[in-house]
Amino acid sequence: MKQTMIELTEKYVYDQLNSDASGHDWFHIDRVRKLALHIAKEEREGNEFIIEMAALLHDIPDDKLNQEADGGWKKLDAWFDEIKLDIDSVDAIKQIIHTISFSAGQLRLPSIEAEIVQDADRLDAIGAIGIARTFAFGGKKGQLMYDPSLPIRENMTKKEYRNGKSSSIHHFHEKLLRLQDMLNTCTAKKIASERHEYMVGFLEEFNKEWDVRL
Ligand code: ADP
Ligand code: NI
Repeated sequence: MKQTMIELTEKYVYDQLNSDASGHDWFHIDRVRKLALHIAKEEREGNEFIIEMAALLHDIPDDKLNQEADGGWKKLDAWFDEIKLDIDSVDAIKQIIHTISFSAGQLRLPSIEAEIVQDADRLDAIGAIGIARTFAFGGKKGQLMYDPSLPIRENMTKKEYRNGKSSSIHHFHEKLLRLQDMLNTCTAKKIASERHEYMVGFLEEFNKEWDVRL
């Protein structure tokens, strides 16, 4: 029963995000699901069904992917109705998705399942994949790869973050380099340290080539 729900949800999410080129494509979702299940196993904590469902559905209500403000949440409710998921699971999954986003960063996470899915989503934003996603997203948004004339601003508000002028290199300083200190589980922290170092090395090399230091 639960396995069937996961398979149906997988297909649903695949169809929804299939053509997204902003870094929220199906492969991102699949990596987050795998990372989340790996963390749960290592930590020996969390309900695997809730974790897997929340990981699969976590980007469906993202406002970047929906024209209407509540459009994604409506889609999510319609999907839960269709698969007839029990109300307790629906509430747990929706609460996870609502609280894990970076912009909702100040919210206290409601459960270990939320901590695990948030860690998995954050791990996929750093390292080599994180670098690739950042430039993919930046290109789609139409921002420059780097603009040294723009100030680097840490701790921006949600609104400033969404609307502010930025560059993809700025995004590393504004968000990605801070993620390793914002993780919840020991397992994720261990995975993050290699990925973090990789990004630091990348930025050093980028600056060197930018300045044409040979
Ligand atoms: P998530 O899937 O983790 O919720 P986001 O919606 O915040 O991620 O962003 C999707 C991807 O695009 C991430 O890899 C993120 O780092 C990157 N990204 C978000 N905002 C920017 C930006 N202003 N410039 C470049 N990359 C960005
Ligand atoms: Ni995500």
